[in-house]
Amino acid sequence: MEPRTFAIRTFGCQMNAHDSDKVANLLLHAGYEATADDEAADLLVINTCSIREKAEHRLYSDLGRLREWKAQRPGRLIGVGGCVAQQAGDALLARFSQVDFVFGTHNLRLVPSLVRAAEEGQREIDVSTSPSLDRFDLPERHPGFVETSPGRAYLTVMEGCDMFCSFCIVPTTRGREVSRTADSILREAESLAARGVVELVLLGQTVNAYGRHDQRRGRATQGGTMSFAALIRRLAEIRGLRRIRYTSPHPIFFDDDLVRAHGEIEALCPHVHMPVQSGADAVLERMRRRYTSDDVRRLTLRLRAARPDLALTTDLIVGFPGEKDADFEATLALIRDVGYVDGFSFKYSPRPGTAGAEIADRVPEDVAQARLEAVQDLLRQQTLRYHRGRVGTSTEVLVAGRSRQDHQLAGRDPWHRVVNLDVASFPHAVPGHLVRVQIAEATPHSLIGEPVLPLPLAQAGFSSGAAAFRR
Ligand code: SAH
Ligand code: SF4
Ligand code: F3S
Repeated sequence: MEPRTFAIRTFGCQMNAHDSDKVANLLLHAGYEATADDEAADLLVINTCSIREKAEHRLYSDLGRLREWKAQRPGRLIGVGGCVAQQAGDALLARFSQVDFVFGTHNLRLVPSLVRAAEEGQREIDVSTSPSLDRFDLPERHPGFVETSPGRAYLTVMEGCDMFCSFCIVPTTRGREVSRTADSILREAESLAARGVVELVLLGQTVNAYGRHDQRRGRATQGGTMSFAALIRRLAEIRGLRRIRYTSPHPIFFDDDLVRAHGEIEALCPHVHMPVQSGADAVLERMRRRYTSDDVRRLTLRLRAARPDLALTTDLIVGFPGEKDADFEATLALIRDVGYVDGFSFKYSPRPGTAGAEIADRVPEDVAQARLEAVQDLLRQQTLRYHRGRVGTSTEVLVAGRSRQDHQLAGRDPWHRVVNLDVASFPHAVPGHLVRVQIAEATPHSLIGEPVLPLPLAQAGFSSGAAAFRR
């Protein structure tokens, strides 16, 4: 029997989530049908992540279980892509006989032909890398494509990474930095807006390094790229686009124009997720991050001068080799000084082939665990404090869908906070649409929105504080 139905399992970052969407779209164009249910699927594509050891191990245990899935129905196929595939390559086919094809991070476009070969019994692999921009030439959205986030879309502006932070595997799995042409980005954004997208999330491993290699070579005038801030300004002119975000920026690529853009462009959301990793200069140096903690403090001041209500979130690594108690205290101090509203924190996980994995002076597991808990505690306190400060203000929520409790809708505000809404109070709220709300309550993980008070009540001071945030 010929496989006709596919499901995709995705691990890792937004880049991977977006790649899975691209693969889904390609398979739809090739005549396959999507299903969210593995049991109904003939083809299962696993899009993998290798950022930490745990993420990689997850693939191996999943593949073990999938032997049975494959045996349940003849003709079932398994394809593996993403960052583990890029790194492990042939070894995946050799080690797991249940895997039918392997594709690298630069080869999404080959998935339909790899599937066809697999249907004919050939086990093929393509993990070749290339600096070519061809990989971004993808077909328009298939009519059968189901949006995972109505009203919101990712758009890749650059890919790869040339930074080689000593802890990080990404430069190996994603290859060299390349930026798409501004024209192709603008065309894609226009087509997304025409399809009802109101929020655009610009993606890149170091997204604000967009175009930097071209800018240096003076190619900007030849119809290639432009500065990141200039690109945002152009995107903001597209009719229908109400919100623009970008992720993840690197602290060293915030030029004055990008900082200014935060104060000048209404559609540019007042939230920046900026990974800092550590607050200790000695650790930052060993991580090869190319900035100091005071650089981060100064950048925060510049951004806040442009946009006083800016919400900052971050990524942190604890337990990097050689991290002393005093270094860790410096990280806590930076978290407090910047006032991060939220963050992701991780215990350092040595990745084979990276420079960090060679550094001796490992931090014991129990120390790293205690530090992780302390960072998470502090971030939780700061999140709640920020949420409480928002009570009484008004904002706009892009409705994403039903939250876990079925009587609630959930969405995000411009500051990227989750706002829950009672379905009964917002009978007309539809996923993909923006609704104006009043923040009535703060919880540790989210805000609770209510319909905005009628004007006379609001004028009487019931929405005090809202003015600063009203846009
Ligand atoms: N491109 C982004 C980060 C991508 S990886 C940037 O430049 O900052 C996402 C996050 O995973 C990183 O910010 C870092 O906090 C974490 N991370 C990456 N490698 C890691 C490792 N070896 N161990 C633990 N955490 C890691
Ligand atoms: Fe990894 Fe550093 Fe590149 Fe981010 S900037 S992807 S952390 S190497
Ligand atoms: Fe993981 Fe690759 Fe993203 S390693 S975090 S999926 S770039």
